Amino acid sequence: MTYDHALNLDNWPSARSPGTGQAVPVVTPPNPGLAAPAFPVEVAVQRICGHHRNLARVFAAQQGHAEAIAAGACPPDFPLMAAILRYIELHLLGNHHRVEESCLLAAMRERGASGQLVDTALGAHNQSARKFAALQSAFGAWRQQPDLSNPPFLELAADYRECELGHIAFEEDVLLPCAVETLPASDWVAIAKAFRDEDDPLFGSSPDPQLIPLHHVLGAGTAAN
Ligand SMILES: [Fe+2]
Ligand SMILES: [Fe+2]
Repeated sequence: MTYDHALNLDNWPSARSPGTGQAVPVVTPPNPGLAAPAFPVEVAVQRICGHHRNLARVFAAQQGHAEAIAAGACPPDFPLMAAILRYIELHLLGNHHRVEESCLLAAMRERGASGQLVDTALGAHNQSARKFAALQSAFGAWRQQPDLSNPPFLELAADYRECELGHIAFEEDVLLPCAVETLPASDWVAIAKAFRDEDDPLFGSSPDPQLIPLHHVLGAGTAAN
């Protein structure tokens, strides 16, 4: 049984009235045998923030390795750094940003939420794609010259990490609260489905073989939720 099926997301009554935004009381849980039933909005926000937590863990691993290199504690672990870049490419850019744009941000635009907030998020995603291309290029150059002292990649990686963590904070502190106030429950059902956990190439049900070095560092089956 999938998580969505267990929560009966398809049949869950509206958590909020689209017209008034008032909470709609739910009398009968759709799954009486399950503890702690959740509203679609809670499931969706939990999944989005779960993605963020997992991304933050990967960025922390990247930062820890960069600091160890700078301190002379270890040589560069290129397979590990390649796996981190692959995770960012597959999950942050390929999954997370794509689904935010096609589902969450599109719904906010359609429902008349703050256009400025939506534009800010889209601008951050575009900037992220540009910075990531530069990061990959710097990483390739470093691998060609592994003895390079103070490689530009480390500074670019630190900048990329700071930008992404700042974007996550913006989404959780500003964007998502606005979305919760604006979007009806029917939108949150679609958003919760779009942000399934299984698509995570590191913590999901079908880990990417090329992420094994990162898998070893972070451990398996410990995704944030
Ligand atoms: Fe985003
Ligand atoms: Fe996000």
